[in-house]
Amino acid sequence: MAPEIDLQVRLGTLELPNPVLVCSGTFGCGREYAEWTELEKLGGLVTKSVTPGPVTGNPPPRLWETPCGLINSIGWENDGLERFLEDELPFLGCLGIPIIVSVAGFTPQDYLLVSTRLSREREVAALELNLSCPNVERGGLSFCQSPAEAARLVKEVKERVDKPVLAKLSYRVSDLPVLCRLMERAGADALSLVNSLPAMAIDPETALPRLGNWVGGLSGPAIHPLAVLAVWEAFTATSLPIVGMGGVWDWKDAVEFMMAGATAIGIGTLNFRDPAGWLKVLEGMEEYLRRQGYSRVEELVGLTHRRLGLMGHN
Ligand SMILES: Cc1cc2nc3c(=O)[nH]c(=O)nc-3n(C[C@H](O)[C@H](O)[C@H](O)COP(=O)(O)O)c2cc1C
Repeated sequence: MAPEIDLQVRLGTLELPNPVLVCSGTFGCGREYAEWTELEKLGGLVTKSVTPGPVTGNPPPRLWETPCGLINSIGWENDGLERFLEDELPFLGCLGIPIIVSVAGFTPQDYLLVSTRLSREREVAALELNLSCPNVERGGLSFCQSPAEAARLVKEVKERVDKPVLAKLSYRVSDLPVLCRLMERAGADALSLVNSLPAMAIDPETALPRLGNWVGGLSGPAIHPLAVLAVWEAFTATSLPIVGMGGVWDWKDAVEFMMAGATAIGIGTLNFRDPAGWLKVLEGMEEYLRRQGYSRVEELVGLTHRRLGLMGHN
């Protein structure tokens, strides 16, 4: 019989049955995927970002495919906090997996309102603060680009909630290590790296932007090496656990993230290509660990740092 591999990982006090999560905004609240894949095998599900009230999102077109990526400008389209609590959370709560709710807003007060309300819900395992959305006019990326403001926000949320808080960051910042350290000092329990990166495409026939919002966020394999470096830098800068995301297409990308320092990984754009892609990634990782003679997936976290004799936090 094949030896059992321990797939459990911890993001601070948040325990995940395995390191494979699905990323915010790429999996809705899971319902649409239920008939295609076994949701109960996920390491965790990160919901679409939730704002205090309903948001219609950006004007169409909202998606543009590049040779190895996707530019989206969905904006924060969602039905708002109350509808989320009534319509989505009961379904999510029945899945028996950690549910991480992504929180967004146009002002710091929006984040505080949504976070404090959600923290009262048993079904919510953790909160992920989206401090890095590249395609909204107010809020979003601007938080991440004002590190002091982002840190104040994280601190205020942490003072009001008793759930683990993940800070979702962008790589489009002037100094990622400094930002990561500020997040740690503010009390964040983990970092999610990276959000999609600001990008633009222009139609040569019309000389106009391809997207209704002009600017969108680039995701998919195009950003994977950048995201690996972001995780590498964050691992060196802080002792916080990291969720690595950006262009995971197969198990090798996931293992790469873990070796760079991620404790868990997120799968985003791949969900649109293959609804069961995340499960193939998980199975591929397990097979790799078995073949290499590992007994625990956590042995991979920061492995490249150790191979190079560098100081890592694990
Ligand atoms: C269509 C789409 C919508 C997204 N919506 C959100 C969102 O609401 N909140 C958020 O934090 N990230 C959002 N993201 C970013 C992803 O969660 C993820 O950080 C990013 O896409 C990188 O991972 P990937 O390359 O595997 O897609 C979205 C990404 C895509 C492609």
